[in-house]
Amino acid sequence: MQQDSSNAGKNPSVFSRRGFLKGAGAAVAATGVLGAAALPTDARSSEPTTVKADEVVPLRFTLNGKSVEVKVRTGYTLLETLRDHLDTTGPKLACDYGACGACTVLLDGTAVNACLVLAVECAGRKVESVEGLEQGGKLHPIQEAFMAEDAMQCGFCTSGMLMSCKALLDRNAHPSHNETADALAGNICRCGTYFNIYKAVDRVAKSGGK
Ligand code: FES
Ligand code: FES
Repeated sequence: MQQDSSNAGKNPSVFSRRGFLKGAGAAVAATGVLGAAALPTDARSSEPTTVKADEVVPLRFTLNGKSVEVKVRTGYTLLETLRDHLDTTGPKLACDYGACGACTVLLDGTAVNACLVLAVECAGRKVESVEGLEQGGKLHPIQEAFMAEDAMQCGFCTSGMLMSCKALLDRNAHPSHNETADALAGNICRCGTYFNIYKAVDRVAKSGGK
């Protein structure tokens, strides 16, 4: 797989899956095609491509540092694409409507709920999942800190928590307690490990990311 992030970060649009599907349905009812909601499907092209609702389109983006190509339906979410088509099952499917954070990944460095992002929104962009945290057989400092602070129980929320913590620490190496709480507000842990997760973030902050 070749590296290609030439268009990364140039698509600031963020819209909800529900909004897109609603718009797509309306467009189909009127004309059978998506007109104004045209989306880029190829990172090499700067021209938007008009796509039909529920059409299968080629898509290329960078996943954990590698360029990946996949064919997806226009209504597929990023989460479905990662889990069902790219063998990337770290992001979990739980609520499927943006309420729990179990599916959190980074899109151009920002934590997003992969269940609310359409795969086609990711054309030419950089996606990071928990699978990309380990580098060269070495765990990321936040992974080490989660183990040191016993910051997980069943582990179902953990991949999403880790990605939200990474996004926080990447933009703020020394977050306050309130900043950490804000950054993790969209991640729910049914086992109640929040206190240990906060301690894990503090551990990384105090160690300077080492
Ligand atoms: S599965 Fe995406 S927020 Fe819950
Ligand atoms: S460790 Fe079980 S949901 Fe968080």
